[in-house]
Amino acid sequence: MKICIIGTGYVGLVSGTCFSELGNNVICSDTNDSKIINLNEGIVPIYEPGLEELIKRNFNQGKLKFSTDIASSIRNSDIIFICVGTPTNKKTNSADLKYVLNVANTIKNNLNKYKVIVTKSTVPVTTGDKIEKILNIKKNKNKFDVISNPEFLREGEAIRDFLYPDRIVIGTNTNKANNIMKNLYQPIIKKNNRYFHTSRRAAELIKYSSNAFLATKITFINEIANLCENSNIDVNDIAIGMGLDDRIGDRFLRAGPGYGGSCFPKDTRALVTIAKKFKINLSIVKSVIKSNDTRHKLLLNRITKIMSNKFKNKKITFLGVTFKAGTDDMRESPALNIIPSLIKKGANINYYDPSKKKDIFNSKKIKFCKNIKDACKNSNLLIIHTEWNEFKQLNFKNLVNKKNFKIFDMRNLYSSRKMKNNNIKYFGIGR
Ligand code: NAD
Ligand code: UGA
Repeated sequence: MKICIIGTGYVGLVSGTCFSELGNNVICSDTNDSKIINLNEGIVPIYEPGLEELIKRNFNQGKLKFSTDIASSIRNSDIIFICVGTPTNKKTNSADLKYVLNVANTIKNNLNKYKVIVTKSTVPVTTGDKIEKILNIKKNKNKFDVISNPEFLREGEAIRDFLYPDRIVIGTNTNKANNIMKNLYQPIIKKNNRYFHTSRRAAELIKYSSNAFLATKITFINEIANLCENSNIDVNDIAIGMGLDDRIGDRFLRAGPGYGGSCFPKDTRALVTIAKKFKINLSIVKSVIKSNDTRHKLLLNRITKIMSNKFKNKKITFLGVTFKAGTDDMRESPALNIIPSLIKKGANINYYDPSKKKDIFNSKKIKFCKNIKDACKNSNLLIIHTEWNEFKQLNFKNLVNKKNFKIFDMRNLYSSRKMKNNNIKYFGIGR
C-alpha cells in the first residue's frame, strides 16, 4: 500500500519505518526541514534502539522516503496517517489540536482520489468529527473516511511494541475503511490476533483511558511506597504480592520518582479537560495528576533528610536524567524539578546519562560527565534516577572516592540487604 505519514516524530518515524518493513511504500513527511534533510542523510533524530538499522534498510530498498512536500506526499498515497504532536494547551489544559487541524486543512486541498485519513496522534473524543467537518467540502464527496487508530508504543521499546502489539484499535463506522486497515495490519494481526474494531469516538477514548489507567497504577504504588517508608515494609514485596493476582497484574507497579514523559502527564490533563466539556468530573484522574505533580517535593524532602540538610560544597550525582531508561527524551522528567531545587539548596550536580543527553541544564553547578566513573568519583550522594541496564551492577566502592558516600536508588535496582552487608548507606523508594 502507499502510505503517507504526516509528522515524523517518535510515533510517525517508528510507524512509517515499521510499515515499510512490512512491505509498504511509505513517505514520511514533516514541516521540519532539517529533520527531513538529516533523515535523507541517514541521521536519525531520536534515540530508539534498533530504529536506525531498520530505517537504513528500508530507505536503501526504496520503500521508505522522507519529504517536506506534504501536499504531493498526500496526493501520492492511499492511506494518510496524522502523527503530529498534541501538546498541552497551557491556558486550558486541553490537548492543543492546532497541528492536527492544520494537517486536516492541508489534506482537504489534496484529496485527488479516495483516501483513508487516520489519526494516530493522541486526540480527544470528537477530534475525528472535527477533521471530517474540515474535509467535508463539495469536491471531496466520497473521497475519504476519517478513522481513529491510536498508538500504544512506548519509547525505548517502540519497534517491538509496534510490530508485536497487545492490540490494534481501529475506530470507524465504515466497512470499507475497516477492511483497508485490517489488510494493512494483516502481517501483525497474524502474529497475535488482537484487532479490535469499534466506533471512532470509542477508539479515541480507549487511548486516553489506557494512559490514565497506567498513570493511576503507577501513582497508586507510589503512594503505597510512601506508606511503606513509614512502616518499615518493602514496597517491592507489596507489588509482587499484589501482582500475583491476575486481575491486578504486576506490570506498571514499579514505585519510582513519578511518571514523566511526553504522554502520561499531558494525556491525563487532556482527559480531565475533555470530560469537563461533557460535564463529567473525573475525580480519580484529577487526584492522580495532583499526587504526581507534588511527588518531586516529597523526594526533595527525602534527599534533604538523607543529606542531613547539608548541601553546601556537597556533590550529588545523577545516574540518568531522562524520564525513563531507553530514551533521550527529557519531557516532564522528574529530574527537571529535582535538580534545580538541589542547586538552590547549594549542592553541585554531576550527571551521566547513557543516551549521552547533555546541555540540558544551563548552570555552572551542573556538570555533564562522559562516563559513570567520572560522574561518581567525588560524590557525596548518588541518585539512581533511571533504570538503564548499565546502572544495575555497579561496584560503588570502586567508583566513589569519598568515604561515607550515600546512595538514593529511585528505581529500587539494588538489594537493601546486600548494601547493608557492604556497609553502604543505601536508601530506596518505599523501603
Ligand atoms: P513529536 O513531537 O516527536 O513529533 C511530531 C512531529 O510533527 C514533529 O516532527 C513536527 O515537526 C511535526 N509536525 C508538526 N506540524 C506538522 C505539519 N503541519 N505537517 C507535518 N509535520 C508536522 O511527537 P510524538 O512524540 O511522535 O507524538 C505524536 C503524537 O503521538 C502525540 O499525539 C502523542 O501523544 C502520540 N503518541 C506518542 C507516543 C510516544 O511515545 N512519543 C506514543 C503514543 C502516542
Ligand atoms: C506510555 C505508554 O506506556 C504507552 O503505551 C503509550 O503509547 C505512550 O505512553 C504514549 O501515549 O505516548 P512512555 O511514555 O514511552 O509510554 O513510557 P512508559 O514506559 O509508559 O513510562 C511512563 C512513565 O512512567 C515513566 O516516567 C516511567 O518511569 C514511569 N513508570 C512506568 C513508573 O514509574 N513505574 C512503572 O512501573 C512504569
